[in-house]
Amino acid sequence: MQTLTVDLADRSYPIYIGEQLLENAELLVRHLRAKQVYIVTNETIAPLYLPELIKRLEAYQVDTTVLPDGEAFKNLETLNQVFDGLLEARHNRTTTVLALGGGVVGDMAGFAAACYQRGVDFLQAPTTLLSMVDSSVGGKTGVNHRLGKNMIGAFYQPKAVIADMSVLESLPARELSAGIAEVVKYGLIADKEFFQWLESNMPELLAKDPKTLAYAVKRSCENKAKVVARDEREGGLRAILNLGHTFGHAIETAQGYGVWLHGEAVAAGMVMAADLSWRRGAISEDELKRIIRLLERAHLPVKAPANMSPEDFLRLMGVDKKVVDGRLRLVLLSQLGEALITSDIEQDLLQETFAACRADERDAPPGA
Ligand code: NAD
Ligand code: GLY
Repeated sequence: MQTLTVDLADRSYPIYIGEQLLENAELLVRHLRAKQVYIVTNETIAPLYLPELIKRLEAYQVDTTVLPDGEAFKNLETLNQVFDGLLEARHNRTTTVLALGGGVVGDMAGFAAACYQRGVDFLQAPTTLLSMVDSSVGGKTGVNHRLGKNMIGAFYQPKAVIADMSVLESLPARELSAGIAEVVKYGLIADKEFFQWLESNMPELLAKDPKTLAYAVKRSCENKAKVVARDEREGGLRAILNLGHTFGHAIETAQGYGVWLHGEAVAAGMVMAADLSWRRGAISEDELKRIIRLLERAHLPVKAPANMSPEDFLRLMGVDKKVVDGRLRLVLLSQLGEALITSDIEQDLLQETFAACRADERDAPPGA
């Protein structure tokens, strides 16, 4: 097992990365404050991993909410099931909410923990690659609103992240690829050497080679922890973690939550951000092609949906959380391996990017 730390003074916490961690009773109880645990998971993950986990916590009062599966249920209405369950089973302020699942479960359980009795302890046990490398680390929690992604939420840090790599065995290939999008993101925004490593190791990553996966998770978490430690509440720097997300969130909202996976939308969005960066002269054409090629090799979409016009993008991007005083801000590349945040966006170049990155009507959408 490897242990990293998210350094946030008195709210610092460990990220454990290793095999069979959910079977390690000592590790599981290490961060429990009292005798109550409330597990939030979903109907896909529950039959795979919930019974074993409950077995390891036999000395505790364990109650659970099994949510319906999918981004479409990441809303306040569904979240109420967790509050109902917590209250019905009389969980008190010393309980610990444990999120067993991907980013949807983690974001929802974290937000429930932030709100329940004004805040109870919270553990992340991520089960997708995406949640291991991104959503379980850094304390962003929340739900979607029909008018925008992740619009209702809170910054609320977990007490620990337990990334049990063995659970990735059951993760479908499409979901693995979606996670790889966020892994590639770290190479693009902060770690050129990692980008090059990914160019050399993509087949092993797609084949779920344990050593390759563990290295990718560790290096991604190191990159994320570094940024979060410097700017926990996204006063500035942390926004670089959203490379491709402004375009991507617009795609997710326009297509209907869950139609494009989050990582797929981020992949197409990162290509749009890279394309605009190339048009501004920040990266070379060869580097743009390398970025597109790497994402294609990860079986990710590299074009925006054919049914989205530039006007659709601009309208939906206007509700992005990075908008300040009505001005759109975008994360772009200043070079390969370095990002910048700017509201100085050349509208003509942006229009060129929309045109260049739009899929053909005949292209199959992701998952088809
Ligand atoms: P997800 O949670 O929907 O999980 C993907 C699918 O895989 C689901 O069907 C799930 O049931 C299934 N699954 C999960 N683990 C499995 C396993 N081990 N074996 C088999 N199936 C498994 O999606 P995700 O990609 O993990 O997360 C996406 C969400 O994360 C989005 O809502 C996004 O907004 C959010 N997100 C949040 C942050 C953050 O900082 N909080 C960062 C990135 C993404
Ligand atoms: N996923 C973006 C962030 O955590 O800030």
